[in-house]
Amino acid sequence: MDPIVWRNTMGQFATGVTIITTLDQEGNPLGMTANAFTSLSLDPPMVLICVDRQSATLTELAATGKYCVNILEKSQESVSRQFAKKGGNEKFLGIAYHAGETGLPVLEGCLTSVECEIEEIREGGDHLILLGRGLHIHSPGEAAEPLLFYRGKYAALDKAGA
Ligand SMILES: Cc1cc2nc3c(=O)[nH]c(=O)nc-3n(C[C@H](O)[C@H](O)[C@H](O)COP(=O)(O)O)c2cc1C
Repeated sequence: MDPIVWRNTMGQFATGVTIITTLDQEGNPLGMTANAFTSLSLDPPMVLICVDRQSATLTELAATGKYCVNILEKSQESVSRQFAKKGGNEKFLGIAYHAGETGLPVLEGCLTSVECEIEEIREGGDHLILLGRGLHIHSPGEAAEPLLFYRGKYAALDKAGA
């Protein structure tokens, strides 16, 4: 299978965009952009994320055993770009956030954020699948729209005619 064909094929599936945040061993914030996020189970409340084995954040995710899923709002494309770069704590420069109940970084301005504890890590080819149980939900409670990702580009809902 040609990887470019595969990537373009999978890119036909429109997704939202999240920032997965966690903490390093010193308690400093870390994060990465991810759209491989899925709601998994209602009871118990579970989600999953898929993380590239090459990701620098992966080691700390596994070590700390928890992550926060921050679902981006349509105005946060620059946040997505910033967290898709390589780098550690400096990705948080200029980013507003606060510590959630578990101490995880909760980004400001998101549609919602969910603090999770990792229940299981499974193999998934060149990625690992991190199953998380939802512990705490943060919702700004304001009318907002999602940032979308489709065919390798950012997009927003077009509600014309809806
Ligand atoms: C829209 C978008 C979605 C992404 N989704 C994922 C993903 O689901 N899993 C993943 O491992 N990387 C994903 N990436 C790539 C990572 O964000 C990128 O490799 C980042 O540099 C990882 O940072 P780190 O090495 O500091 O952990 C995505 C990037 C973008 C722009």
